[in-house]
Amino acid sequence: MLRPGRSCPSSYYYGARALAGEPSLEVESLWIAGGLYGNVQALDALLAVYEGERGSKALVFNGDFHWFDVDAADFSRVNDAVLAHHAARGNVETELATPQDGAGCGCGYPDWVGDETVERSNRILQRLRATAERLPHTLAALRALPMHLAARVGDARIAIVHGDADSLAGWGFSQEALATDDGLRRAGQAFATAGADLFASSHTCLPVLQRFAGGRALINNGAAGMPNFRGSRYGLATRISFTPARESIYGVRRRALYIDAVPIRYDSQAWERCFLEQWPPGSDAHASYYQRIVEGPDYSRDEALRGQTPAQSQRVGTA
Ligand SMILES: [Fe+2]
Repeated sequence: MLRPGRSCPSSYYYGARALAGEPSLEVESLWIAGGLYGNVQALDALLAVYEGERGSKALVFNGDFHWFDVDAADFSRVNDAVLAHHAARGNVETELATPQDGAGCGCGYPDWVGDETVERSNRILQRLRATAERLPHTLAALRALPMHLAARVGDARIAIVHGDADSLAGWGFSQEALATDDGLRRAGQAFATAGADLFASSHTCLPVLQRFAGGRALINNGAAGMPNFRGSRYGLATRISFTPARESIYGVRRRALYIDAVPIRYDSQAWERCFLEQWPPGSDAHASYYQRIVEGPDYSRDEALRGQTPAQSQRVGTA
């Protein structure tokens, strides 16, 4: 029996072997933005900074691009912009387009997330679904999106997922799981099974860049549409390219490639107003997210950047 917001529906499972197919994208610069969460100001900022990218390029929205956007105009705008690029569905889009009995928000929350947060997320999803059902053409498009993508930049094969190597809403690539020996070992084993040099993920709301032996790395961008660090108000996206990022919060090199967490510096005051119009005090999203939106989570960029190699091979930006 599924527990809403806690359990992962069986249809979420694909297994790391499913990631080993031919890359559908090959570019010089690859951007991956998970967790936009319906933040239209972050969408504007992301598209503006991506616009400045030179050479062959692709932008992938790897799920949960909807969440706070219960306003139908915002929902349509996010949907249209995402579908104009490359996209994989997250649990939010999956539960909007093909609701699974008992899945709730589809987040698959682990034990360290409290019951009240889980119940609020389930109710946020219900309210968002009421918006989406007024726009049936968007649901058909979301239903058709894949759960994962593979890309190539230079000699690196990149598996792009929403959750982890095995499941759409898996937490194996969360900073919490990667802080354990067992979690680190499991993630390390997934590279060979998936035939990947790099994993790009999102879903777990906090970013992490974890290096593994042999130049492999896992980069979870946290959220493109919410602050990721204490005292900050910018989102993060992942950029993998032959050229250095114009601005990087932290990054690593893999031979000729630069792998960076790049800031999405949106108009945070406009976003706060927009959020409060949709989710005023007393609402579920306000209770769960407002503090993070204005103050950032209790997490630092030093905690996000992890590796086995000496510190000089990692680059920490100045933001
Ligand atoms: Fe998610």
